[in-house]
Amino acid sequence: MQIDDRITGRSKIAGIIGNPLEHSISPQLHNTLSRLLGNDLAYIPLRVEKNDLGNAVKGLIAVNAAGFNITIPYKQDIMKHLDVISEEALLYGAVNTVKNNGGKLYGYNTDADGFLRSFREEAGIGFENREVAVLGAGGAARAIAVKIALEKASRINIVNRTLSKASEIAEVINNKIRPAASIFSPEEFEKQNVISRCDIIVNTTSIGMYPDVGSSPVNRAYTFLQSQVVYDVIYNPVKTRLLKDAEGSGCKVVNGLGMLIYQGIYAYEIWTGLKVSESVVKELFKLLLEYWEHAIIREE
Ligand code: ATR
Repeated sequence: MQIDDRITGRSKIAGIIGNPLEHSISPQLHNTLSRLLGNDLAYIPLRVEKNDLGNAVKGLIAVNAAGFNITIPYKQDIMKHLDVISEEALLYGAVNTVKNNGGKLYGYNTDADGFLRSFREEAGIGFENREVAVLGAGGAARAIAVKIALEKASRINIVNRTLSKASEIAEVINNKIRPAASIFSPEEFEKQNVISRCDIIVNTTSIGMYPDVGSSPVNRAYTFLQSQVVYDVIYNPVKTRLLKDAEGSGCKVVNGLGMLIYQGIYAYEIWTGLKVSESVVKELFKLLLEYWEHAIIREE
């Protein structure tokens, strides 16, 4: 046994506010990043009850935290506690990263940039002039669909069982970016065979997430076109039913681990001012993929 001096009186602190947090892997991600970079930033889980969000934020300012992440269910609620919010985070209607600058709080959203970098690198293509299907219309869908519109997709088809939520996202895109968004109920989407027109399909729903591993948000009778790229924000399981089906048809498929890792890297860069090099990115991906596959096996 040795003295554990990874955290000392000089360490800076950051953390993640949310509830529940038991399944978050952000602490492992950020503390590994600190070690890889040789940077003295300790990252902890901060489980906060709804009525305590404002107090928690004041407390983090009082202890001079470098910044913090926000996750479900506070990505919208946090906004009223901040001094400045980035233009993109305002468009997405959600903040997942806050930087504390001497008591002044700056809000950002790194989810959409994390998604975009993971998609570009792992799929090897971008969104310009592509027709896209976004399945789902929750918090993740909004950041992703708006980002895809900013990236000049030719059309964004938003599909959701609660059509009003798809409509809200389409309004943001059509009114604030470009009239490129359409909405569909899952039934209409299937009836009109919209999926066959799409170059890229992105699942943002929880359909297929552990333990619901047999389900897919796309009718299993559909045969994917080999040219289609399919992205699933889910990373538990590592390959969802949707990704297995698409891969079976020869499609390029990508899961959500890259989005998770890149949103974390961008947050870390915002807090510290450091630039995470490509070699550190690579090492972090390798370590986290190995860790995650083992963590999933342990849980099942
Ligand atoms: P997140 O922040 O991860 O996006 P969310 O805001 O709760 O999470 O959104 C979950 C998405 O998955 C929603 O689009 C939800 O559909 P509704 O808006 O109709 O609720 C979708 N979803 C979850 N379970 C579903 C199911 N069994 N069938 C269809 N859609 C589902």
